[in-house]
Amino acid sequence: MQDKKIIIASDHAGFQLKEKLISHLTEEGYNVLDLGPYTDVIPVDYPDKAQLVAADIQEHPQNIGVLICGTGEGMCMAVNKYSFIRAGLVYNEETAKMTRLHNDANVICLGGRTTPPESAIKYLDIFLNTSFEGGRHQRRIQKLGDLK
Ligand code: RB5
Repeated sequence: MQDKKIIIASDHAGFQLKEKLISHLTEEGYNVLDLGPYTDVIPVDYPDKAQLVAADIQEHPQNIGVLICGTGEGMCMAVNKYSFIRAGLVYNEETAKMTRLHNDANVICLGGRTTPPESAIKYLDIFLNTSFEGGRHQRRIQKLGDLK
């Protein structure tokens, strides 16, 4: 069985939350790859980090991405440019669950300035512990990937 990793990255606005999520994931025993940044002193453009996470998932489709910027919006827009990515902007327990259940999301986007760390940890846990429902949703995500 292929080794499943959590690939995480942020911009400067998401850095603090990224660090908290990495601590949580590591404590929970996940294999985590941190694609930076490693400080929030230098501004980082979110498309650059979204691109790195997408490249990893293209090579290792079993991996799950976590992307954090100020609102999660920019990361979500950037990473969803790739046809093999299904990223969900998660802002409550329902979106955390449904984006896995119905959309088979392989990336979760969170807002470091909009979501308190305790909530983000809860949403991430729900996301990681929810399986895709398949069935009619399989056809829909297939169509999603075919869109040009
Ligand atoms: C950075 O100031 C902010 O624009 C960025 O983190 C993000 O929220 C964009 O979507």
